[in-house]
Amino acid sequence: MDTTRIQLQTLSDTEKFGRLLGRLAMPGDVICLNGDLGAGKTALTQAIARGLDVPDNCYVTSPSFALLHEYPGRLPLYHMDFYRLQDVSEVLDLGFDEYFYQQGLTVIEWAGRAIEVLPEERLNINIVPNADLTRTVTVQGSSRYAALLRHISREFNENNA
Ligand SMILES: Nc1ncnc2c1ncn2[C@@H]1O[C@H](COP(=O)(O)OP(=O)(O)OP(=O)(O)O)[C@@H](O)[C@H]1O
Ligand SMILES: [Mg+2]
Repeated sequence: MDTTRIQLQTLSDTEKFGRLLGRLAMPGDVICLNGDLGAGKTALTQAIARGLDVPDNCYVTSPSFALLHEYPGRLPLYHMDFYRLQDVSEVLDLGFDEYFYQQGLTVIEWAGRAIEVLPEERLNINIVPNADLTRTVTVQGSSRYAALLRHISREFNENNA
């Protein structure tokens, strides 16, 4: 498992990071987002959507109640939010695990609430808000995601280190 840590100084850095992730996403990728309430998981997902060419008129919101929203883009975006999950078994009952293996990009907020059912191969992103608008982001992944990690750290550690 490779790990990189980056500093996002402002919301616009988060947007740049998300658009990069959206542009580099490949069919069947799974991005797991963790971090407290208000950390920026939905903000990051909105930027990922832009990078995936989800049309601007598709407003990406947290699927807290529905647990899943799907948006059209270069690849379909399956946006999940497990905050309100009562039990991990719900993910399986609702058939969400099937999305992980389809041709779209799955992005899951509060993914840690269902860690047992997540695919082994996934990109883990943990967002920690600091006192101001900056965010410390830890990104972890193996195999397919290793190249992505190198790209991210090239792009962000040069300017922000
Ligand atoms: N650098 C930054 N990155 C991300 N969000 C930022 C940043 N600076 C400020 N913000 C603001 O922080 C808020 C993040 O809210 P967001 O809904 O994305 O959090 P969340 O992690 O999805 O929370 P929840 O757990 O409730 O779903 C937004 O209002 C956003 O504008
Ligand atoms: Mg959210």
